Amino acid sequence: MVQRPRRLRSLQPLRAMVRETRLSKASLIYPVFVREGCGIAEEIASMPGQYRYSVDRLPAAVDRLLESGVDKIMLFGIPDCKDSLGSGAWDENGIAPRALRELKRRYPELYCIADVCLCEYTDHGHCGVLASDGRAIDNDKTLPLLAKSALAYVRAGADMVAPSDMMDGRVGAIRSLLDQSGCADVPIMSYAVKYSSSFYGPFREAAGSAPSFGDRKSYQMDYHNRREALKEALLDLDEGADIIMVKPALSYLDVLLAVSEAVNVPVAAYSVSGEYAMIKAAARAGYIDEAAAVCEAAVSVFRAGADMLITYFAPEIAGYINEGRIG
Ligand code: PBG
Repeated sequence: MVQRPRRLRSLQPLRAMVRETRLSKASLIYPVFVREGCGIAEEIASMPGQYRYSVDRLPAAVDRLLESGVDKIMLFGIPDCKDSLGSGAWDENGIAPRALRELKRRYPELYCIADVCLCEYTDHGHCGVLASDGRAIDNDKTLPLLAKSALAYVRAGADMVAPSDMMDGRVGAIRSLLDQSGCADVPIMSYAVKYSSSFYGPFREAAGSAPSFGDRKSYQMDYHNRREALKEALLDLDEGADIIMVKPALSYLDVLLAVSEAVNVPVAAYSVSGEYAMIKAAARAGYIDEAAAVCEAAVSVFRAGADMLITYFAPEIAGYINEGRIG
């Protein structure tokens, strides 16, 4: 018999019917940066089209997002004052809790995930506190600070917390403090599989969180390793993580596939700032078609096994789903 795979590729609506990967607006999460001040919507130079908003200007981002059909955000706070411990991270009147209270008051339907990390709040830019030698990161001293921060965000209205620091044991520390504090129902999305990546560059500019010395290689993963991803994912599940994240997305689709086959919880992928910046820059130079590239990249992440996607292109992808271009 002659094989003709092209038979199913011919025309819509057949092509759409035989798709193996389905996308839904319900699976999209949009990262939002909130900063101190008033009346500010400042474009991030390395991420054209993305802004740092003061609390009063957040509706500029959220109204557009909700209109596109996306109702979930990942919130990052950018404080004015930083110190060695990152104390702004757990201040109940710090930037993230104030933004969360305002968002939940104004948009009760908006699902708010709070990123939990110290790097935006420490003057040295590392994700944990420094040991007495002033250089190493003290893992175990960092854990209670992360847990306190997570609790402050939940008390301010966060629906979910997402620790991104990569300290060992932080999911367990956050879970037990939330449980002791009457917040047993709040899920944890763990940045369980987070590689040390050049693709975070634009984010660090956006959040002013580049480390002032050294790098993050002593806590973020080495990109040569895939088995280690399974170890991190399984450890975090054991500590009580509800959702496992793989980050970045595009250079790690093999890892995403392996993790999604190894765990029995939902898996998230984070398409990071550098992935956004590359597509934007190439499209602006006229080298690629932005919409086509965004669609292809987004579908690849779901094809590799992700159940949800955190992306700066969330409103655009929702638009492409609305138009029937993908989905
Ligand atoms: C904080 C954090 C980072 C990102 C998310 N949470 C930066 C980092 O680890 O340096 C990166 C997100 C992005 O690049 O879009 N630890």
